[in-house]
Amino acid sequence: MHNAVANYLHFMCAALVKFRQTGAIVPSQRFLIEKMIAPVPETYAGRIIELGAGNGALTLRLAARCPEARILACEINPALARVNRHNLDRAGINGRVQVIPDSAEHLLSEMDRRGQGKADYVLSGIPLGNLRSDRVFAIVDAVSRALVPGGLYIQFQYSLMDRKKIRTRFQAVRTVPVILNVPPAVVYYAQK
Ligand SMILES: C[S@@+](CC[C@H](N)C(=O)[O-])C[C@H]1O[C@@H](n2cnc3c(N)ncnc32)[C@H](O)[C@@H]1O
Repeated sequence: MHNAVANYLHFMCAALVKFRQTGAIVPSQRFLIEKMIAPVPETYAGRIIELGAGNGALTLRLAARCPEARILACEINPALARVNRHNLDRAGINGRVQVIPDSAEHLLSEMDRRGQGKADYVLSGIPLGNLRSDRVFAIVDAVSRALVPGGLYIQFQYSLMDRKKIRTRFQAVRTVPVILNVPPAVVYYAQK
Protein backbone atom coordinates (compact mmCIF):
# COMPACT_ATOMS: atom_id res chain seq x y z
CA MET A 1 0.00 0.00 0.00
CA HIS A 2 1.21 3.53 -0.75
CA ASN A 3 2.74 5.01 2.43
CA ALA A 4 0.61 8.18 2.38
CA VAL A 5 -2.58 6.09 2.22
CA ALA A 6 -1.30 3.85 5.02
CA ASN A 7 -0.59 6.94 7.14
CA TYR A 8 -4.11 8.25 6.63
CA LEU A 9 -5.59 4.85 7.52
CA HIS A 10 -3.48 4.53 10.68
CA PHE A 11 -4.53 7.99 11.79
CA MET A 12 -8.22 7.38 11.00
CA CYS A 13 -8.13 4.16 13.03
CA ALA A 14 -6.64 6.07 15.98
CA ALA A 15 -9.39 8.67 15.60
CA LEU A 16 -12.08 5.98 15.51
CA VAL A 17 -10.82 4.34 18.68
CA LYS A 18 -9.92 7.52 20.62
CA PHE A 19 -11.48 10.54 18.97
CA ARG A 20 -11.20 13.00 21.87
CA GLN A 21 -7.53 12.19 22.33
CA THR A 22 -6.68 12.19 18.63
CA GLY A 23 -8.63 15.37 17.95
CA ALA A 24 -8.89 15.04 14.15
CA ILE A 25 -9.75 12.41 11.58
CA VAL A 26 -6.79 12.97 9.27
CA PRO A 27 -3.20 14.16 9.81
CA SER A 28 -2.34 17.83 9.24
CA GLN A 29 -1.82 18.87 5.66
CA ARG A 30 0.64 21.00 3.75
CA PHE A 31 -0.50 24.58 4.45
CA LEU A 32 -1.00 23.99 8.17
CA ILE A 33 2.37 22.24 8.47
CA GLU A 34 4.06 25.12 6.65
CA LYS A 35 2.53 27.66 9.04
CA MET A 36 3.63 25.56 12.03
CA ILE A 37 7.26 25.21 11.00
CA ALA A 38 7.82 28.55 9.24
CA PRO A 39 9.17 30.46 12.30
CA VAL A 40 11.95 27.91 12.89
CA PRO A 41 15.01 28.99 10.87
CA GLU A 42 16.35 26.35 8.48
CA THR A 43 19.78 26.74 10.08
CA TYR A 44 18.49 26.28 13.63
CA ALA A 45 20.81 23.86 15.45
CA GLY A 46 19.24 23.72 18.92
CA ARG A 47 16.43 21.69 20.44
CA ILE A 48 12.82 21.63 19.27
CA ILE A 49 10.06 19.88 21.23
CA GLU A 50 6.99 18.58 19.41
CA LEU A 51 3.92 17.59 21.44
CA GLY A 52 1.20 15.36 20.02
CA ALA A 53 3.31 14.33 17.06
CA GLY A 54 0.81 11.77 15.71
CA ASN A 55 2.22 9.66 12.91
CA GLY A 56 4.68 12.34 11.91
CA ALA A 57 3.10 14.58 9.27
CA LEU A 58 4.75 17.56 10.95
CA THR A 59 7.76 15.78 12.48
CA LEU A 60 9.05 14.71 9.07
CA ARG A 61 8.68 18.14 7.48
CA LEU A 62 10.28 19.84 10.46
CA ALA A 63 13.21 17.41 10.40
CA ALA A 64 13.66 17.99 6.67
CA ARG A 65 13.50 21.78 7.07
CA CYS A 66 16.00 21.92 9.96
CA PRO A 67 18.71 19.31 9.28
CA GLU A 68 20.88 20.51 12.18
CA ALA A 69 18.17 20.64 14.84
CA ARG A 70 17.56 18.01 17.53
CA ILE A 71 13.88 17.19 17.73
CA LEU A 72 12.20 15.59 20.72
CA ALA A 73 8.72 14.48 19.63
CA CYS A 74 6.20 12.95 21.99
CA GLU A 75 2.98 11.12 21.19
CA ILE A 76 0.61 9.62 23.74
CA ASN A 77 -0.74 6.92 21.40
CA PRO A 78 1.99 4.26 21.11
CA ALA A 79 0.64 2.98 17.78
CA LEU A 80 0.95 6.43 16.19
CA ALA A 81 4.37 6.94 17.80
CA ARG A 82 5.54 3.68 16.19
CA VAL A 83 4.35 4.77 12.74
CA ASN A 84 6.04 8.14 13.25
CA ARG A 85 9.36 6.40 14.07
CA HIS A 86 8.93 4.10 11.05
CA ASN A 87 8.31 7.07 8.74
CA LEU A 88 11.42 8.84 10.04
CA ASP A 89 13.52 5.70 9.56
CA ARG A 90 12.23 5.31 6.00
CA ALA A 91 13.31 8.90 5.34
CA GLY A 92 16.77 8.14 6.76
CA ILE A 93 16.26 10.44 9.76
CA ASN A 94 17.67 8.72 12.83
CA GLY A 95 19.63 9.98 15.83
CA ARG A 96 18.66 13.64 15.83
CA VAL A 97 14.92 12.96 16.07
CA GLN A 98 13.60 11.07 19.07
CA VAL A 99 9.97 9.92 19.25
CA ILE A 100 8.84 9.29 22.81
CA PRO A 101 5.61 7.31 23.29
CA ASP A 102 4.47 9.35 26.28
CA SER A 103 2.13 12.16 27.30
CA ALA A 104 3.28 15.74 26.94
CA GLU A 105 2.55 16.33 30.62
CA HIS A 106 4.81 13.49 31.74
CA LEU A 107 7.61 14.25 29.28
CA LEU A 108 7.70 17.95 30.21
CA SER A 109 7.55 17.34 33.95
CA GLU A 110 10.40 14.80 33.72
CA MET A 111 12.49 17.26 31.71
CA ASP A 112 11.78 19.93 34.31
CA ARG A 113 12.58 17.60 37.23
CA ARG A 114 15.87 16.54 35.68
CA GLY A 115 16.80 20.12 34.83
CA GLN A 116 17.24 19.16 31.18
CA GLY A 117 18.00 22.00 28.79
CA LYS A 118 15.22 24.26 27.68
CA ALA A 119 14.04 24.66 24.09
CA ASP A 120 13.68 27.68 21.82
CA TYR A 121 10.61 26.18 20.13
CA VAL A 122 7.74 24.00 21.30
CA LEU A 123 5.33 22.92 18.55
CA SER A 124 2.07 21.26 19.52
CA GLY A 125 -0.94 19.64 17.90
CA ILE A 126 -2.46 18.48 21.19
CA PRO A 127 -6.25 18.92 20.96
CA LEU A 128 -6.57 21.34 23.89
CA GLY A 129 -10.23 21.93 23.05
CA ASN A 130 -11.02 18.34 24.07
CA LEU A 131 -9.37 18.64 27.47
CA ARG A 132 -10.61 19.94 30.81
CA SER A 133 -9.50 23.46 31.67
CA ASP A 134 -7.14 22.38 34.47
CA ARG A 135 -5.35 20.01 32.11
CA VAL A 136 -5.02 22.71 29.44
CA PHE A 137 -3.48 25.10 31.99
CA ALA A 138 -1.15 22.34 33.21
CA ILE A 139 0.09 21.73 29.64
CA VAL A 140 0.45 25.43 28.81
CA ASP A 141 2.33 26.08 32.06
CA ALA A 142 4.63 23.11 31.43
CA VAL A 143 5.31 24.38 27.90
CA SER A 144 6.19 27.79 29.29
CA ARG A 145 8.63 26.21 31.77
CA ALA A 146 10.25 24.19 28.95
CA LEU A 147 10.97 27.32 26.89
CA VAL A 148 13.90 29.71 27.20
CA PRO A 149 12.92 33.39 27.76
CA GLY A 150 11.82 34.69 24.36
CA GLY A 151 11.11 31.12 23.16
CA LEU A 152 8.14 30.40 20.92
CA TYR A 153 5.18 28.09 21.58
CA ILE A 154 3.42 27.22 18.31
CA GLN A 155 0.09 25.46 18.77
CA PHE A 156 -2.57 24.58 16.21
CA GLN A 157 -6.22 24.11 17.04
CA TYR A 158 -9.52 23.76 15.25
CA SER A 159 -11.31 26.39 17.37
CA LEU A 160 -10.47 29.57 19.27
CA MET A 161 -11.67 28.09 22.56
CA ASP A 162 -8.32 28.02 24.32
CA ARG A 163 -6.81 31.22 22.99
CA LYS A 164 -7.59 33.15 26.18
CA LYS A 165 -5.96 30.48 28.33
CA ILE A 166 -2.74 30.74 26.34
CA ARG A 167 -2.88 34.55 26.54
CA THR A 168 -2.95 34.41 30.33
CA ARG A 169 0.44 32.64 30.33
CA PHE A 170 2.29 34.21 27.38
CA GLN A 171 3.01 37.89 26.87
CA ALA A 172 2.29 37.99 23.12
CA VAL A 173 0.02 35.68 21.15
CA ARG A 174 -0.55 35.99 17.41
CA THR A 175 -3.34 33.97 15.78
CA VAL A 176 -3.25 32.93 12.13
CA PRO A 177 -6.11 31.08 10.43
CA VAL A 178 -5.36 28.23 8.01
CA ILE A 179 -8.45 27.71 5.90
CA LEU A 180 -6.86 25.23 3.51
CA ASN A 181 -6.73 22.30 5.90
CA VAL A 182 -9.22 19.59 6.78
CA PRO A 183 -10.58 20.69 9.16
CA PRO A 184 -9.70 24.43 8.90
CA ALA A 185 -7.39 25.39 11.73
CA VAL A 186 -5.80 28.28 13.59
CA VAL A 187 -2.17 28.55 14.60
CA TYR A 188 -1.14 30.39 17.77
CA TYR A 189 2.34 31.85 17.99
CA ALA A 190 2.91 32.55 21.67
CA GLN A 191 6.14 34.21 22.77
CA LYS A 192 7.45 33.67 26.29
C1 LIG B 1 -4.68 16.66 15.99
S1 LIG B 1 -3.54 15.31 16.20
C2 LIG B 1 -2.08 16.00 15.44
C3 LIG B 1 -1.12 14.94 14.97
C4 LIG B 1 0.06 15.47 14.16
N1 LIG B 1 0.85 16.41 14.91
C5 LIG B 1 -0.41 16.12 12.90
O1 LIG B 1 -0.28 17.36 12.82
O2 LIG B 1 -0.90 15.43 12.01
C6 LIG B 1 -3.19 15.40 17.94
C7 LIG B 1 -2.24 14.33 18.45
O3 LIG B 1 -1.96 14.60 19.82
C8 LIG B 1 -1.90 13.36 20.51
N2 LIG B 1 -2.13 13.67 21.94
C9 LIG B 1 -3.30 13.98 22.53
N3 LIG B 1 -3.12 14.25 23.83
C10 LIG B 1 -1.78 14.14 24.06
C11 LIG B 1 -0.96 14.31 25.21
N4 LIG B 1 -1.48 14.67 26.39
N5 LIG B 1 0.37 14.11 25.09
C12 LIG B 1 0.91 13.75 23.90
N6 LIG B 1 0.18 13.55 22.79
C13 LIG B 1 -1.14 13.76 22.85
C14 LIG B 1 -2.97 12.52 19.86
O4 LIG B 1 -2.79 11.14 20.08
C15 LIG B 1 -2.81 12.92 18.39
O5 LIG B 1 -1.90 12.10 17.72
